[in-house]
Amino acid sequence: MALHKGTLAMFDNSVGVSDVVLLYPVTEDDFIKNLQTRFEHDLIYTYIGNVVISVNPYKQLPLYTHSVIEEYRSRNIYELPPHIYAIADDAYRSMRDRNLDQCIIISGESGSGKTEASKAIMQYVAEVSGKGQEIDRVKEQLLLSNPVLEAFGNAKTAKNDNSSRFGKYMDIEFDYKGDPIGGVITNYLLEKSRVASRNPGERSFHIFYQLLSGADKSLLESLMLTPDPEKYTFLRNGCTEVSSIDDKGNFEKIRSGMQVIGFSETEVESVFQLVASILKLGNLQLVAKSNEDGTDGCDIEDHSELYAVGELLSCDMEDLEKSLTKRTVEVKTETVTTDLSSGELFFFIIVYIVFQNNSFEQFIINYCNEKLQQIFIELTLKEEQEEYIKEGIEWIQVEYFNNAVICDLIEKNNTGILALLDEECLRPGDVSDSTFLKKLDSKCHDHPHYESRNCKKNQSDKTLPYDAFRLKHYAGNVLYKVDGFIDKNNDLLFRGLSKAMYNCEHPLLKTLFPEGNPRQKSLKRPATAGSQFKVSVTELMKNLLSKNPNYIRCIKPNDDKKPDVLDVKIVTHQVRYLGLLENVWVRRAGYAFRQPYEVFLARYKMLTPMTWPVWRDEARQGVQLILQMQSVPPSEYAFGNTKIFIKNPKLLFDMEEKRREKMHYLATLIQKVWRGWHQKTKYKRMRASQVVISAQLRMYLARKLYLKKKVSTVKIQSYLRRWMAQQLLKELKRKALVLWAVGVIHKNFLGWQARMKVKQIRTERRRDWAVSVIHKYFVGWQVRKQYHNQFRRVAGPKVARFFVLALKKKFLLDLKDKLPSISPVCNDWPKCSGRFKNASEELRKIYHRWRCRKYRQRFDSNPSAAFKMKEKQAASELFKSRKDIYPHSVGHPFKGDYIDLKLNHKWQKLSKNSVDEDVVFADLAMKVNRANGKMVQFLLVMSTESILVMEHRTMIIKYRIPFEQITGIALSPYTDKLVVFHLQKPKENDAILCRKGDFIFSCAHVVELVAKAYLAIQNHVGKPPDVKIANQLQADFKGHNVDIIFRKADPNVQKDGILRLSRKGNKLDVFEP
Ligand SMILES: Nc1ncnc2c1ncn2[C@@H]1O[C@H](COP(=O)(O)OP(=O)(O)OP(=O)(O)O)[C@@H](O)[C@H]1O
Ligand SMILES: [Mg+2]
Repeated sequence: MALHKGTLAMFDNSVGVSDVVLLYPVTEDDFIKNLQTRFEHDLIYTYIGNVVISVNPYKQLPLYTHSVIEEYRSRNIYELPPHIYAIADDAYRSMRDRNLDQCIIISGESGSGKTEASKAIMQYVAEVSGKGQEIDRVKEQLLLSNPVLEAFGNAKTAKNDNSSRFGKYMDIEFDYKGDPIGGVITNYLLEKSRVASRNPGERSFHIFYQLLSGADKSLLESLMLTPDPEKYTFLRNGCTEVSSIDDKGNFEKIRSGMQVIGFSETEVESVFQLVASILKLGNLQLVAKSNEDGTDGCDIEDHSELYAVGELLSCDMEDLEKSLTKRTVEVKTETVTTDLSSGELFFFIIVYIVFQNNSFEQFIINYCNEKLQQIFIELTLKEEQEEYIKEGIEWIQVEYFNNAVICDLIEKNNTGILALLDEECLRPGDVSDSTFLKKLDSKCHDHPHYESRNCKKNQSDKTLPYDAFRLKHYAGNVLYKVDGFIDKNNDLLFRGLSKAMYNCEHPLLKTLFPEGNPRQKSLKRPATAGSQFKVSVTELMKNLLSKNPNYIRCIKPNDDKKPDVLDVKIVTHQVRYLGLLENVWVRRAGYAFRQPYEVFLARYKMLTPMTWPVWRDEARQGVQLILQMQSVPPSEYAFGNTKIFIKNPKLLFDMEEKRREKMHYLATLIQKVWRGWHQKTKYKRMRASQVVISAQLRMYLARKLYLKKKVSTVKIQSYLRRWMAQQLLKELKRKALVLWAVGVIHKNFLGWQARMKVKQIRTERRRDWAVSVIHKYFVGWQVRKQYHNQFRRVAGPKVARFFVLALKKKFLLDLKDKLPSISPVCNDWPKCSGRFKNASEELRKIYHRWRCRKYRQRFDSNPSAAFKMKEKQAASELFKSRKDIYPHSVGHPFKGDYIDLKLNHKWQKLSKNSVDEDVVFADLAMKVNRANGKMVQFLLVMSTESILVMEHRTMIIKYRIPFEQITGIALSPYTDKLVVFHLQKPKENDAILCRKGDFIFSCAHVVELVAKAYLAIQNHVGKPPDVKIANQLQADFKGHNVDIIFRKADPNVQKDGILRLSRKGNKLDVFEP
């Protein structure tokens, strides 16, 4: 049905054909070749109509990502390349939008990828259905149920590391919006025997290994387990580790998974206790013994494991032991133990495999497969037939193998194999597997699908053993050994064991062994395994038939789990027993291809000019027209009510080819038209834009002009206003000026008036005063005239004396106020009238003397000050008004030791206890060289006894001039600082010093030096030296008399202001600056 929805991916870019219905011709070889070609290109999915064939790639392909799911979401099944998601989406949308219940049947051999396919479907549904807290919780539970179920039901086998050892029917309920609201999982036919034994290289169920490697130490301790699997009989003798499986990691996953699904903490614990007790039970060793009554019995060898089981299951140890040992009389111990431990934990099995080692279980499984195949064929044909009826097309009978006959052989009431088995089990008397086989032979020997060595038709067939029968299944012939059929069909736990389990305190066991409940005493025999299974298969079939089926057929490409390897033999085998070719034939029986008229027309309308580009009439007529124009013979197609049916895919391929050619032409045409349209639109848009732009430009220009005018107007207006304001201002100013002028004139007038008045008053006053003076004179004259003689004699002198006295008084009082400073050097004196000139002079002298006395008195109280005064006095007497530089020295205190000689260590050493110890004067001075007049710096020291000329650096005394030898001192009256010390004229045997002659020094403090020398020599010799100040001097230079002449230096030549001396013959010229 989905085939009709679209045709895109079916033809476009596919490798081989993606829908085998379109294979032409259809042979087995072509079919396999097509699968192979696609497989080589990693295209693992291929359709037969709406059935998906999936070839296990044994490698990860990027087919299951989120983006792929988004791509397939809500797309028609044929729009995209074949994928499980397309089927899942179709089923999901039919369920959601059309309210049709859906079932997806996944079948294939072990390791062909059924479990992976089911996971992909669950993943898809979880992604595309709604979201929300509750919905997500349900989804998570559904998704996580998988790893938990796999832990308990999957095991490593020779064919598959993660082989599902049970059949699974998962029922997911959706609400009207298509959101999952819950699910029920039913499991069928768990391979119980795997717990106790399995083929070499295989493992038991994953949970045992997961628990041992994943549980932490405390959990293992609480379960009384050790992590080494080799310690457990049930796990030994096989492999314990699988490289592709992470037991430890998976244990964590299932633990959290169980929580999410809703197991409580104690329930999880109970499950692990059960698992642990199974391992412990496996380790129980039974030894044979003879009972007292002589019958055979057995005992448990080592009780420690039994106690551990008792502890784990919280059961009565004695009960348990009894229940275990008692049964050993009747059944093989190990088998019973195994069944006990795992049987009720998982319920039933369907495994879609054909076993090598065929027994009762495989018989049951293959029965189930027959049933599934039957409904597959039934549903496919039914669907096809329904479509033909709906479309009003005559049904053509299809030849196909109907396996109903095999199903009948197995399940038919009373005569079917299962019925015969039950009959044999219930029959009183000696019953065994061989009596069962005999019964089969007698009842079924003429059935075409039954074979046995005891049947006539097979007597010579050596491949058939005597203890077996063979069934010709639709998928091939299978040999079944009858050994164990009766026991397994009975499949009963002994009441004692069920009771012991029920009586355990362990909460899980009570629910797992309800039949052990003593109150539920039913004498009715429980149904046999075969009939129980028949009931559940029938129920399952009923369930599936009530739903719209979707099929995924899984194929295993090779037996070695290798990627990129496709073993044609193995694949051919699977294609055969899955009946895939029959499936194709059914699909193609009448018409291989069908499609709604609208869709067909839409795809091929370009093939005729009448239907291209638009066909306005009915779609059916359009399709008719197309087919006529292609000159297709009418026998090749048929017109249904809504669809066109095409017999041979070749026609479709031809049409596709023509379509491709036409499309090329049309593409060019469309391109051409589109380009034209594109350019035209572009032009129109440009034109529209141009209009807008020019309008905007015009607006802009107009606005600019307007703004310019506005600005100019405002400017003119403002100028005018300014001019008017100026006029107004002028007017106002003029008025103000007139007012001011009037004011000024008025003020002037008032001033003139006032002045006139004042003048008049003054004139009047002067006149009055003159009158009064004249009057006084007149009166005086009259009085004088009257008393003339008298006045002259007496009053005249008196008045004159009085006046003189008053004047004197005034003079003295004025003088008192105007007395000058009491400093003796001050020359100021107030002026006075000529009358008191002499008195003033006298008073001045008195005042000066008085202030000098005052001054002296100050020194008398301080001897050093007095001495200094004496020196100053001497200087004054010597130089006052005689030497030009004297006035400068007056204000300058005579310091004496200008170089702090007394602190100098060398001097202290030199002078200690010498006559020159007391220093009067010390300073640097220039000594004039007698030979050439040049000056050399020396240290000039004067003590109380002599003058010393010393090297100022070395402090070596060059000359010592004792005061006794100094006869006189000479200086010029000018500003120079030269001084000549005249020495005594030498006698014949005098010291060299005397013979050298007079000394001339230039000393900055020459006035002080001479004053001090004057006093010191006087003190020492008793007579002062002769001090001469003259503008021409004479000196004795080594016996020669030399004239010292002072000249004024030419200021243009001697600019540096330094005194220069030069000796020429008997003349020494001194140039003063
Ligand atoms: N679509 C796939 N892509 C990649 N690998 C796959 C795919 N399908 C299956 N396989 C690989 O094949 C292995 C077997 O697949 P899976 O367990 O689904 O087989 P099965 O049909 O369920 O077998 P059994 O009947 O034994 O349970 C997977 O473990 C996986 O490695
Ligand atoms: Mg599986």
